[in-house]
Amino acid sequence: MRNTFLRMNIKTLSKYAIGAGAVGAILGGGILGILHLAAAMTTQAAPPAGSPEAKEQAHAILQNKCAACHGASTDTFNPLLNMMSLGMMQRDVEAGQRGFTLSPDAAVRSASVDLLKMDQVLVRRHMPPLAYRIMHPGTGLTEQDVTLLRELYGKEAADAARYGIITPAPAPATPQEAAKIRLGKLLYNDPRLSTTNAVSCASCHDLTKGGTDNLAKSEGVPGADGKPQLGGVNAPTVYNTESNIRQFWDGRAADLKEQAGGPPLNPVEMGYAHPEDWHKIAGKLAQSSELRVLFAAAFGDQGITADTITEAIAAYEKTLRTPDSAFDLYQKGDKAALDAAATAGKAAFEQQGCATCHSGPTLGGQSFEYINTYEDLRALATPSNYTEGAYGLADFTKKDAHKDMFRVPLLRNVALTAPYFHTGSVGKLEDAVRIMIKTQGKESATDADINNITAFLKAQTGKLNGKAVDTLSPEDVKP
Ligand code: HEC
Ligand code: HEC
Ligand code: HEC
Repeated sequence: MRNTFLRMNIKTLSKYAIGAGAVGAILGGGILGILHLAAAMTTQAAPPAGSPEAKEQAHAILQNKCAACHGASTDTFNPLLNMMSLGMMQRDVEAGQRGFTLSPDAAVRSASVDLLKMDQVLVRRHMPPLAYRIMHPGTGLTEQDVTLLRELYGKEAADAARYGIITPAPAPATPQEAAKIRLGKLLYNDPRLSTTNAVSCASCHDLTKGGTDNLAKSEGVPGADGKPQLGGVNAPTVYNTESNIRQFWDGRAADLKEQAGGPPLNPVEMGYAHPEDWHKIAGKLAQSSELRVLFAAAFGDQGITADTITEAIAAYEKTLRTPDSAFDLYQKGDKAALDAAATAGKAAFEQQGCATCHSGPTLGGQSFEYINTYEDLRALATPSNYTEGAYGLADFTKKDAHKDMFRVPLLRNVALTAPYFHTGSVGKLEDAVRIMIKTQGKESATDADINNITAFLKAQTGKLNGKAVDTLSPEDVKP
């Protein structure tokens, strides 16, 4: 059997123990607690499901039991008590805000991730944190609370949001669309997008390597010392990226088209630096009669511009979907598609709370999340010589609250995309899983859990145009 204590509670309990003494003494045995208890005891029979009263009561529960840490205001604790608790109250409110907010921000987290996080709370009942419940009796979730909140956060909706199937790319609807995709495929593989005519998108996002380069840091055009310049963060896969909430670890591109405009003008990656350099790129591309014909077929008289180049590349990338992984077959009803280890791994993946952030058809991509919920990922995953200051979403938005929030990576084909994390510093999938359990997992884990989750993640390798991604040869992906 698993550890029956929620690991958060063990962790927070020791933290609370220090502050609890001081605060407890001041409160004289918890006058507040008695008040809360009285409120809890006056709870009445549940109103009929779906009635306005039921909704009202559900919102009242959130207000009374959750809003102190997840509401719009972070000014919810008494500064004096907070001081006596050695800042524990403030830390809880801040950590609570980071994990979940009652008024969601769609720019940071898709509604389905919020729904799954709430579902987890209604199943595990680990909120409010145990120590808070002890200090404030009557704030725990009762059966009736769970029933009422379930009506707001439906079980079926959560189950539907958790996973999904990767579907094949639709066939191009028009000849123009077909020309655009064909053109995009050529451009994706065309090194003339770089100053040295040696680096293409495919150099760093090789479709035979899970859509990555399998390097910790990507190698761009050479610098002054003649050696390839290295990117600051690990290159993620290009497979199945269309539905990402935004592109890049820090979300600085809204979509694939905007993203495709980045690398050519990145001095480290493809070497150009200024928007007017697109003319130089266009000049080189225009020398190819095949490309001229395709640009005309796809874009009429719009010509060869930053806009048409990036639109064609994005159209091609949208075809880079990898359906028919073992997990897809399993979800379609073939329960034998996952072996015993992967099936146990799926259960552990859910039990640990992995399937909240890593959810939806691509198992990720839908939110920005803090990488230091329980422990700091960088402390566990980063070599001591790592000096790069990547702070995730804050690098793009310049908002302090977004520091350490990274776009959740997709776990489709993850067995092929080593090394892992934005640091590119973890080579083995097992080790990445172990680190994620420490930083985000809800329970302690055995080696068997780690192996099973790894087996489940290995079952995410799909097929490109009918061929398993791990068996693709250069012949299969060349234009
Ligand atoms: C004393 C502050 C506090 C209160 C009150 C509180 N939470 Fe939390 N909540 C936290 C903290 C801290 C976290 C961050 C990570 C963790 O410890 O799980 C969190 C995380 C969460 C998450 C993110 C998913 C997860 O499990 O990590 C959800 C959802 C959540 N809380 C819902 C609730 C609900 C619903 C209530 C009311 C029934 C509630 N919380 C009450 C502090 C609080
Ligand atoms: C020199 C290596 C290199 C080249 C060349 C390169 N990329 Fe990337 N790519 C990266 C790195 C590194 C990142 C992550 C950067 C970040 O998040 O800040 C990235 C990120 C991406 C992403 C975001 C994926 C996600 O999940 O957020 C996409 C899509 C992508 N590249 C496509 C392309 C395309 C299309 C081209 C050609 C126009 C290209 N890349 C050229 C290294 C490269
Ligand atoms: C609170 C959201 C959240 C939860 C819960 C979560 N992850 Fe992650 N996961 C992330 C983020 C964010 C990253 C990127 C971290 C980085 O690179 O700095 C990540 C990265 C990963 C990676 C590396 C992928 C790559 O391509 O580099 C793996 C593997 C992974 N998670 C597995 C898991 C497993 C297994 C669990 C459950 C124990 C889990 N995650 C729980 C947010 C989450």
